[in-house]
Amino acid sequence: MKAIVSTKYGSPDVLQLKEVEKPAPMENEVLVKVHATSINAADWHLLTSDIFLVRLNMGLFQPKHTILGCDIAGQVEAVGKDVKQFKPGDMVFGDVFGHHYGGFAEFVTAAESDLALKPANLSFEEAAAVPLAAKTALQGLRDLGQIQSGQKVLINGASGGVGTFAVQVAKYYEAEVTAVCSTRNVDLARTLGADHVIDYTLEDFTDNGQKYDIILAVNGYHPIKAYQRALTPRGIYVMTGGSLSQFFEVMLQGPRMSKKEVQQMKALTLKPNPQDLPLLKELLETCKIVPVIDKRYSLSEVPDAFRYFGEGHARGKVIITVQ
Ligand SMILES: NC(=O)c1ccc[n+]([C@@H]2O[C@H](COP(=O)([O-])OP(=O)(O)OC[C@H]3O[C@@H](n4cnc5c(N)ncnc54)[C@H](OP(=O)(O)O)[C@@H]3O)[C@@H](O)[C@H]2O)c1
Repeated sequence: MKAIVSTKYGSPDVLQLKEVEKPAPMENEVLVKVHATSINAADWHLLTSDIFLVRLNMGLFQPKHTILGCDIAGQVEAVGKDVKQFKPGDMVFGDVFGHHYGGFAEFVTAAESDLALKPANLSFEEAAAVPLAAKTALQGLRDLGQIQSGQKVLINGASGGVGTFAVQVAKYYEAEVTAVCSTRNVDLARTLGADHVIDYTLEDFTDNGQKYDIILAVNGYHPIKAYQRALTPRGIYVMTGGSLSQFFEVMLQGPRMSKKEVQQMKALTLKPNPQDLPLLKELLETCKIVPVIDKRYSLSEVPDAFRYFGEGHARGKVIITVQ
């Protein structure tokens, strides 16, 4: 089968289209013929090892996963003997993030629990835009943010892969949503349902006196003290992404600040939850959330797709059409 392979860390230039052996499913695995996949920050970090900690988990000198790609949408080709929910021919979507990556290929094996039937109203490309980014938004707002109806929720970095889902997930939970993005994305944020939009090129939301019950920090950087200033007295700050310094600030100062104040400062680590994908499927089929697709590339164009993603200004998701 064809796959995009990276045998060393580096820029998108190290990615090569190669002929590799087609995987075979183990007893509890599903072999999926990949129709579409999408790029996530997790793929970028694993490609470039821009965060040194990546090497501790994923291979000190060379990547242990040589085919990247977390999100997949496609058709079940074969199933292991212990697989109960799926059969050949089923159209599925999901992610292989917690498994072994491998989505940038014509076939990939996935754990049964990481897949769900594809929402009937979505194309493979639209379905491939969903899993990791939407789960991040869901776990950030629901699990760490403990979102409640009527709360004031701010999404910083509302126009990228995670942010476009976060705005919609917060609206699903009936929050009053403020989206922060640059000028060119203001209309998009409104279309997704944001009640208020702050253009970060014109206004600093940490400095305008407004207070929020939840701040979901998806992109951009503000010192942790500035985020704290924009929280209500019992507010919760959830860091899902952004800069490395922000991550260290939250890890080092967050627990101490959370103890001292009633506010809570948390960092999200995505956890496997077999309930998430079925819930997202339902939200997609009832049009409570819709994927936003920025650009589409073919499998051989994955290096270009990474170059575009790496610029940091994708509007929604960057999709790879495989079949
Ligand atoms: N914790 C976890 O488990 C987990 C899981 C998934 C992702 N993440 C993290 O979440 C982050 C976002 O991922 P993503 O897929 O959404 O990335 P993305 O799609 O690449 O984000 C691009 C968006 O970020 C916006 N942006 C760039 N600079 C900004 C700024 N200064 N202020 C506000 N917005 C800004 C851009 O909007 P403009 O063009 O308008 O600037 C663009 O729309 C990454 O850091 C990733 O590592 C974490």
